[in-house]
Amino acid sequence: MSAVEHFDKVEIDARIAAGFPPVHHLHNRLHIEMPFGLINDPNGLVYHDGAYHIFYQWNPFGCAHKNKSWAHTSTRDFCTYTMPTLALWPSDAHDKDGCYSGCGTMEDGRLRVLYTCNAKDEAGVRSSAQRFGTFVRGAVQKEEIIIKGPPAGFTAHFRDPYLFNWKGARHLVIGAQTADERGCVLVYREQPCGWACLGELRTQLNDFGYMWECPNLLSFGDYDVLVFCPQGVPARDYDRQNIYQAGYIAGHASIDAMEMLMHGRFKELDHGFDFYAPQVMTHEGRHILVGWMGMPDREADYPSCEEGWMHSLTLPRVLTLRQGHIFSEPAHELKALRHRETERPLEAAGESEFSTTLYDLTEILLDLTMGDAYSVSVELLFGLEKLVLRYDRLAQVMRIDRTGMKRGGRGERKFKLYAEQTLSLRMYVDRGAVEVFFQHGEEAATIALFPEKNIRPTMRIFSDVDMEQISGVLWELEPLH
Ligand code: FRU
Repeated sequence: MSAVEHFDKVEIDARIAAGFPPVHHLHNRLHIEMPFGLINDPNGLVYHDGAYHIFYQWNPFGCAHKNKSWAHTSTRDFCTYTMPTLALWPSDAHDKDGCYSGCGTMEDGRLRVLYTCNAKDEAGVRSSAQRFGTFVRGAVQKEEIIIKGPPAGFTAHFRDPYLFNWKGARHLVIGAQTADERGCVLVYREQPCGWACLGELRTQLNDFGYMWECPNLLSFGDYDVLVFCPQGVPARDYDRQNIYQAGYIAGHASIDAMEMLMHGRFKELDHGFDFYAPQVMTHEGRHILVGWMGMPDREADYPSCEEGWMHSLTLPRVLTLRQGHIFSEPAHELKALRHRETERPLEAAGESEFSTTLYDLTEILLDLTMGDAYSVSVELLFGLEKLVLRYDRLAQVMRIDRTGMKRGGRGERKFKLYAEQTLSLRMYVDRGAVEVFFQHGEEAATIALFPEKNIRPTMRIFSDVDMEQISGVLWELEPLH
């Protein structure tokens, strides 16, 4: 065994507790973060015993993508969270090079997780097995390996199992790559003698990347949604602008036919710079998504690495499917973070400019009735630095411009957005992150920010000619606790 680091749960948990709440000014307060190490994918999301359990990929030993373990926290209301702890870590020959992503489930009253054991031999040859474990007293007890490796015709890029039920039986989707390097999703069915590979879930997508990571198969009444993260799909003018994408196709999943039938085009779940590997849990009919606020292979975009930590999880978002399109809105529980006494209405009519100072942590609801204006911008100013959201009404394009920030990832993202008269935004402004929901959840954007100074941002709204009306509300938010 060549485990790189020694995982001492007692020592690591004590260091986490000593580091909470994290003090550095870039640390977010509305988002799950760790005081040290690198976070990536949310894992094992499941409602169990009155609480939502959230595990996530974590390297406790630094900001490199290695030593992948799972951290754990839980919450009853998405406002108060238990102290994160180390829950699953490399410890044997199967997972010595990482406890990779996986899902959570309830089984006979127990919280079980299913994860990918990643190991490499001396020659660097990768093996990927899928293994169950049970979460007992703060740690995952490792149990049976249910799938030892990929079927013939697929490479060892075989990971991120996600459980779903179909016609009363448990099934899995797993991210995979064919021997000729085409990304896809494999399906397995639980049978009395083990898990049988049913093959690839076919889609109408052609030439769609060399690997698909983190699949989720969700049912929305009569429709099914396959969420996945393709790698190797080139950017276009108004979408797919990140190095890798996180998106979905909506249609009908026929496991009998092993095909996603009558599905629409691949759409992204988020148009910001920093969103990947989302996972969805379903509880009482609600599909709750948590994403990784980060992007693989873009380490230079995240300067908090200098402080010994990197990345966060997104806010929990509730998904609904309307006419083949996923809408996402922050879980309603987050309204409890609003400080009632700070509620501030925003009102202006016939103006082309409007400014207001924000709080340390702010939620903003905005309705901009554009009138004759062709372009409307909402800027967040951090002293001399700024983030700009600019809507071009003729082109029906929203542009997110981070070139006005000094540190971190810069550049621009553009996407199509249909706003007739009123541009509606809901924004969560954290210390180092902004999440924006456009047109009541029709589109979303996650944006990590690294302002140089710890100053309260100013929001400035302006347009080419007077807008008809600006209305909205602003609240100071309490941090997660
Ligand atoms: C996605 C991913 C997964 C893998 C995990 C490892 O970000 O590459 O496919 O399981 O991260 O940390």
